[in-house]
Amino acid sequence: MRPRGPGDPGRGRAARLRAPPGRRADGAAGWPVSTGAESTRFRIQRLRYQDLPQVIAIERRAFPAPWSLAMFVLELSKTAGVCLGAWRSEEALAGYCICSRYDTIWHIMNISVDPVLHRRGVATAMLDDLFTRLPDPEAQFTLEVRQSNLPAIALYERYGFLIAGVRKRYYQDNGEDAYIMWRTAATLEGRLDDVPNAGPVQPTPGTVPPPGGRR
Ligand SMILES: CC(C)(COP(=O)(O)OP(=O)(O)OC[C@H]1O[C@@H](n2cnc3c(N)ncnc32)[C@H](O)[C@@H]1OP(=O)(O)O)[C@@H](O)C(=O)NCCC(=O)NCCS
Repeated sequence: MRPRGPGDPGRGRAARLRAPPGRRADGAAGWPVSTGAESTRFRIQRLRYQDLPQVIAIERRAFPAPWSLAMFVLELSKTAGVCLGAWRSEEALAGYCICSRYDTIWHIMNISVDPVLHRRGVATAMLDDLFTRLPDPEAQFTLEVRQSNLPAIALYERYGFLIAGVRKRYYQDNGEDAYIMWRTAATLEGRLDDVPNAGPVQPTPGTVPPPGGRR
């Protein structure tokens, strides 16, 4: 996922796959949410406008071409969207996840975690919460991810996303291609037959091959 917000190509469906035991957080309500081997605790709740300064601070450390404040404001203003934050204390934001609905398809527009809290289950807690909020088994989710972003690709594959296409030179900062990933009823069973416009994916020379040998 990443660049531009509005009008960006999409994301998809609801879920059955779960993070492994010990990494899951039901976080929809209240403390404590226990995740990760280091017993870090996170509370998941909807983002508010007053949270955006912390969101921007994480965003600027996470991405070479960060979203603007206006892009986040727009996403929070959408009634159909789900914008979640993960808190490690009453005040401190650990990460955020922006999910927008376009027609019938959910697009994961942005997910990012404070770099000092990587690999402690923050993203897992947010995605568990997101899919709990959107439990329709027919829901479809999609996103774009840099071909070089192996941590994110591994995260999405854990949730049943499969690579189903490539957007050439999607990222303006370095011209990198994006993988298009989908999570649908079929991808949760390892297939792509209900994914719109799915096709074979040839790795771009100089980048990584599709994880797991998937298309
Ligand atoms: C991708 C990102 C959101 C993951 O957040 P996180 O809170 O560290 O992820 P979690 O701790 O919940 O990890 C869940 C799983 O994702 C995969 N994963 C996460 N980071 C990984 C890494 N560095 N290397 C390999 N796999 C990784 C693993 O399967 C991991 O499970 P495990 O720790 O039990 O092996 C985080 O690295 C990040 O903010 N990156 C910068 C922003 C970004 O690239 N966002 C995605 C844009 S498409």
